[in-house]
Parts: sequence; structure tokens; C-alpha cells
Amino acid sequence: MLEGGLWLSHHIAAKPGAWDGEPRPLFLAPMAGVSDLPFRLLSKACGADVTITEFTNSTALTREAAVSWRKMESHETEVPFIPQIFGGDPGDMATAAEMLAPTADIIDLNFGCPAPKVTKICAGAALMGEPDNLVSMVDGIIQRVDVPVTAKMRLGTGQGANNALDICKSLEDIGTARLCVHGRTLRQRYSGEADWSSIKAIVDAVETPVVANGDVMDAASAKDCLEVTGAAGLMVGRGAIGRPSVFGEIKVGLGWMELEDLPWVKANAEDWYERSPIGQSFAARRWCWDKYIEFSNQTVGLQPRWMQRHAVAFTKGLPGGKKVRAVMHGAPTPEAFAEGISSFLAGEATE
Ligand SMILES: Cc1cc2nc3c(=O)[nH]c(=O)nc-3n(C[C@H](O)[C@H](O)[C@H](O)COP(=O)(O)O)c2cc1C
Repeated sequence: MLEGGLWLSHHIAAKPGAWDGEPRPLFLAPMAGVSDLPFRLLSKACGADVTITEFTNSTALTREAAVSWRKMESHETEVPFIPQIFGGDPGDMATAAEMLAPTADIIDLNFGCPAPKVTKICAGAALMGEPDNLVSMVDGIIQRVDVPVTAKMRLGTGQGANNALDICKSLEDIGTARLCVHGRTLRQRYSGEADWSSIKAIVDAVETPVVANGDVMDAASAKDCLEVTGAAGLMVGRGAIGRPSVFGEIKVGLGWMELEDLPWVKANAEDWYERSPIGQSFAARRWCWDKYIEFSNQTVGLQPRWMQRHAVAFTKGLPGGKKVRAVMHGAPTPEAFAEGISSFLAGEATE
């Protein structure tokens, strides 16, 4: 491991200036039930620069719960490896961070989750209602580990004035390496529109790099979000579910890479331009599905429950959804399931 600032600079670039059209890193959002290891590797292959695990309960990790450690699984090809933890107990948070530190490149802390099962233990976004406790929790973690610590939050709880800006300043003072802000409050959950101008105010107020999150769905919204916020990077969540190709599409749309260099275009080079938009969509999704299976085989093996969730998402909106359900429920083995979805996306599935 490299020392201090040098080590840091390998994974977290300093705050950039105003956005001038140049590439900025794209993050796959941590998403429970979505951001599993093969999906993170797939998103990277599609153009994401940074990925983060789904959030994991720090108290469960300290009790060595196998299910929770499963979520923290990485692979030598995943660089940087960024596990995300949540919890209401500062001691457990610090202990879990310490347990993860030997394998993690960065540890990310969740202060954004609105789910009642999380907020009722005063973790996730609920901690934003207790900013002093939040900051001292992060301080305790930073004291205990020598890997960079980052934090993801919302604008506030939605009760009273938003306090993300104040919290970010305090987190900067104690050495938090990067901040990510989702432009909604806890109360809003996912309703309304993400408020990027409030993210801009935070970007302007701190020297720590700030990643903007919320409602980035494609190249046009990515451009708008960077223009409004000037953020150090963009994080994409729902826009990447079933469509990790969004990362490459954003890069092409913003002129950061060539269409011909997208791996699913390369793989279909002979007839890409003759395909209809729906034909291109099938081809892109098939490439992604096959790659998901390949990464699964290389790492955790085929996981039927994970495959089911992704199969539904990968085929959403495509004609022939009934066939997908038949494949999912009729396949005798995970391998047959994988093959069946791939054939469907190749347009070869039979009635
Ligand atoms: C299914 C799902 C699971 C999520 N799980 C997490 C999580 O584990 N940790 C976290 O910090 N945020 C989680 N989020 C929030 C996202 O990371 C992100 O902040 C939010 O979806 C807003 O970004 P978007 O508009 O690009 O989707 C989750 C969101 C969704 C839709």
C-alpha cells in the first residue's frame, strides 16, 4: 500500500474546476439487490469508472454474519474495491470498517437510505437528523482505518432546513476523502426531481470532491447535471438497472469515447448500423447479459436469485416478456436459464 496522499491520489482525484466538457468519472450507485459483484464488473466493462457494493449492516458484519459478508465479496479484478456499510452504532461501524480495511481500497458510509428498516435503527438518512452523531461516527471510523473513507448522503431529512452542506463541511474538516450527494431529502424518498442546484452549493462550499447523484439517466441528463453542479463525478443508480450500457452511452453522448469502441457495438460490428433501434437494444442487452454470466462464472458462480432479478431488468420493455418468464421458470439448471435468456435476447427464442 502506498503512503498517505500518494495512495489517495491513485483512487480519488482532487476537486476539479468548473466543467468544461472534459471526462469526469461515472459511478455505479450502490444498490441493494442490484450491485452484486458480477454486475459491478459488468458496469465497469460498460464504461463505469467506479463501483460500490450495496450497503451492508455493520453490526451484522461484526457478528460475522455469512450473508452480509457475501455482499462484501470482491475479486482481484475489482479495482478499486469499495464496500459500503451502514449502521446506527458507532462502535460497530468502526469495527466493521476495521474488518474491511485490509481488503478495501476505500470504505463508503451510507447516510442516504430512507428504508424504514434502516432509519428505525437511526442509520442511513435518519442520521442526518443527528448531524453531531453522524460526524463523530465518521471521525471514529477515520481514526481507526488507514484507507480513505467516503460518505454518501441526501440533502437532509426533509424536516426543517436541509443540512447536507453543513454536514459536508464538517466531514471535510475531519478528513472525509470524497462526498456523494443525492439531490433529494429522506422525506422525499424517490419522489419529485433531484435538486442539482443544492448539490452545486455543496460543490462550491467544500474542497473535497463531490459526486452528484439523482436522476442521471442518459447522456442528456448527465450533461445537464455536470453543467449545473460542476461535480467531480456523476453517480447513476436506477438508470443502470437492466441497462449498464448507460455508462458507455453517456461517454459516447458527451464525446468522451467513440460509438465504435463500445464493446457491444464492436461485437456486432458487421450489422450494427443495419439494425433497428430495438434490434440494437436487443444486441446491447444480450452482450451485457452474456458478460454478466461470464463474470459470474469467473467469480461467485451462477447465482439464480441474482440472475432472476437481472433477467427481469435486462428484458424489461422488450417485446416478448412472456417468453422470458417461461425461460426463467422452466429452465432446469442455472446454465440453461443463462442460455435461455441469451437466446431470447438474440431473438432466437421460440414460442
Ligand atoms: C433498488 C435500489 C437500491 C438502493 N440501495 C442503496 C444502497 O444499498 N446504498 C445506497 O447508498 N443507496 C442505495 N440506493 C440509492 C441509490 O444509490 C441512489 O442514491 C438513488 O437511486 C438515486 O440515484 P438515481 O436517480 O440515479 O437512481 C438504492 C436505490 C435503489 C433504486
